[in-house]
Amino acid sequence: MNVQSKIAPTTNKKVLAFVEEAKELFKPDSVYWCDGSKEEYQAMLKALVDGGTAIRLNEDKRPNSILVRSDPKDVARVEDQTYICSEKKEDAGPTNNWADPAEMKETLRKIYDGAMQGRTMYVVPYSMGPVGSPIAGIGVMVTDSAYAVANMHIMTRVGDKVWKALGDSEDFVRGMHTVGAPLTSQTQADVPWPCNATKYISHFPETREIWSYGSGYGGNALLGKKCHALRIASVKARDEGWMAEHMLILKLTNPEGESKFIAAAFPSACGKTNLAMLNPTIKGWKAETIGDDICWMKFGEDGRLYAINPETGFFGVAPGTSDHSNYNAMRTLDANCIYSNVALTDDGDVWWEEMTKEPPAHTVDWLRRSWTPDAGRPAAHPNSRFTAPAGQCPVIAPEWEDPKGVPIDAILFGGRRASVVPLVTEAEDWKQGTFLGSIMASEKTAAAADAKGDIRRDPMAMLPFCGYHMGDYFAHWLKIGEKGGDKMPKIFYVNWFRKSPEGKFLWPGFAENSRVLKWIFERCDGTAEAIDTPIGKVPAEGALDTDGLDVGEADLKELLRVDTEGWKSEIPSIKEHYETFGDKLPGGLKEELGELEKRLA
Ligand code: OXD
Ligand code: MN
Repeated sequence: MNVQSKIAPTTNKKVLAFVEEAKELFKPDSVYWCDGSKEEYQAMLKALVDGGTAIRLNEDKRPNSILVRSDPKDVARVEDQTYICSEKKEDAGPTNNWADPAEMKETLRKIYDGAMQGRTMYVVPYSMGPVGSPIAGIGVMVTDSAYAVANMHIMTRVGDKVWKALGDSEDFVRGMHTVGAPLTSQTQADVPWPCNATKYISHFPETREIWSYGSGYGGNALLGKKCHALRIASVKARDEGWMAEHMLILKLTNPEGESKFIAAAFPSACGKTNLAMLNPTIKGWKAETIGDDICWMKFGEDGRLYAINPETGFFGVAPGTSDHSNYNAMRTLDANCIYSNVALTDDGDVWWEEMTKEPPAHTVDWLRRSWTPDAGRPAAHPNSRFTAPAGQCPVIAPEWEDPKGVPIDAILFGGRRASVVPLVTEAEDWKQGTFLGSIMASEKTAAAADAKGDIRRDPMAMLPFCGYHMGDYFAHWLKIGEKGGDKMPKIFYVNWFRKSPEGKFLWPGFAENSRVLKWIFERCDGTAEAIDTPIGKVPAEGALDTDGLDVGEADLKELLRVDTEGWKSEIPSIKEHYETFGDKLPGGLKEELGELEKRLA
C-alpha cells in the first residue's frame, strides 16, 4: 500500500470531519484511504492470507480466489442485535428492535473507544449503483476488516470516482464498522478471525448512519448491502418518493426479440439467486440477470418505474448451488471469488453440500477439521457464502450497469407454501398486489407440512430489512401506486413449492419456472388468457406453456386450483398479522382484506 493512501483524496468537509471523528474514537494505528484498484484488492487478499484468515485456493482450479473461515460464533446476520434507532420508537415499528439513538450512541461510543488499536482503519468510498446514476447512492464506510474491504470491492463500486461523484455533497451514508478486537499490546498476536461476543448492528435512519460492532461476517460487516441498500435506503426512499426493495431483477426476451424486466421478492431459501439466473426450458426464450438480491426503483420521465441493481456482486448461499440448481452461478464462481465457511478439498478447491452428486471422499470442513461423507455433519456451514463479481455471470444482461436503470414490467412475490397458494396468480391492480405482498408467507421448514402456525409472514421479504414502521411501508407502497397509476408494473404472486396430499412437489421448479415467466410476460402484453378467481387471475386452461413438460394433467389442475376453503381458513391468521401494525395499517389494505373475505364467502 502506497504512501498516497494516507492522504485524503477528497476535500469534502463532511467526509473529512466524519473520518476525523472516527479516528479519534477508534484510535487506529493508521488510516488508509481505499482507491478501489486491483492492486489494493490484491493487497487485501495478501493481508488476509498473511494473517491466517484466508488461504489461497489452487490457482489451476479457482484462480485468484481465497477461502476464509470465520470464528464459529460469527457466521450470520444477527437479527436480535440489529437495531433501528429512530428518534421515535413508533417509527421503528413492531417488527424492528428499537433503541433511543442518543442512548445507543452512548453505549457504542464506550466500546468504540480504542476499538481499532493496533489495526488499520480503512476508509471505503462506495457507490450503490452505477456511479453518477440518478438512482444510485453513495456511502463512506470506515472499517478495520480487510475481509470487509475485499468484499466491498466485489459487491460495490469502490474508488476515487466516488469522491468525484460526491463532490461537496452531504448526501452520503456514514458507516462505521469495527470487529471490536483491538490489539492493545505490541506483543499481542492477532487471531485468524477477530470479532467480539458483543455485537450491535445499529441504524440511525434520520441521520443516515450505520454503526456496526463486533462481527466481521456478511451483512453485519458489508455495510453497503442490507444496512445501507435496504434499511437506510428504504427510509430515504420513503422520504424521497422511490422504492428500495429486497428483489432480484431479470430480463426476459421472447423469440421475437422483445424484452421485459421483472423484479421478484422472495424470503430466504426460496431460490432467488436461482431464478435470477435461470436458463429457460422453453424454445426461443432467453433470460438474463440484472441482480439477485436488491432493487432500487425510481420514476423515470415517462412515469414508469426504472430499476437498478445497486450491487456489483453476488453474496450467495453456497450449499445447494450446483450445475443442476444454478449452472450460471457455478460458472460465475470459476475464478476471482471469496469463499466463506465452505469446505476445502484435498486438491485445494472448495466444496459444499449438493455441489456435486457425490461428495468428495475427504475434505477439511469449515471448522478446519478432517471430514468424510460419513461424518454425520455438513462440511460447509449452512450459511457459507460465495462473493462473486456479477460481471462474470455468463447471463448478465447488457443493461445491468445502465445508469438509467431498466423499466420494470412486472413484480413477483412468492414464498414456499405446500398448500393453498397456486403456482401463479395475477393481482387485479397495484392495490391488490400490495395486499398480496403484505401477507406474503413462507414455511419455516421446507420439510414440514403446511400446518397452521408453521408459516412465517414476511411482507415483501422485507421483515428483517425495512428501516421503518412496516405499516408506513405499506402506505408508501400504496402511495407510489397512486402516483404511477396505470404505468405501474403488474403484480403476481407465485409459489413453486405446492405439494400433493402425499407430500410430493407438484412443480419441477428451477428452469421450468420459465413457463410461468412466459405467462407473466404475455399477461403484460395482454396476449395470454386468464380467469378470474376470488384471489386474482390464474392461467386459463391451456394458457400456460406445457410443451415438453413432464407434469400430469391432474397435477397441473391442482397447481392452479384456487383452494377457497384453504384461503378462508387463512383469514384469521392474516387478521392477526395485520393487528401487529395497529393504527398504521393503511385503510386500503383493510379494504382489500374485506373484499377478499366477501369474494370467498
Ligand atoms: C441475504 C439474505 O443474504 O436475504 O441475501 O439474508
Ligand atoms: Mn437477501
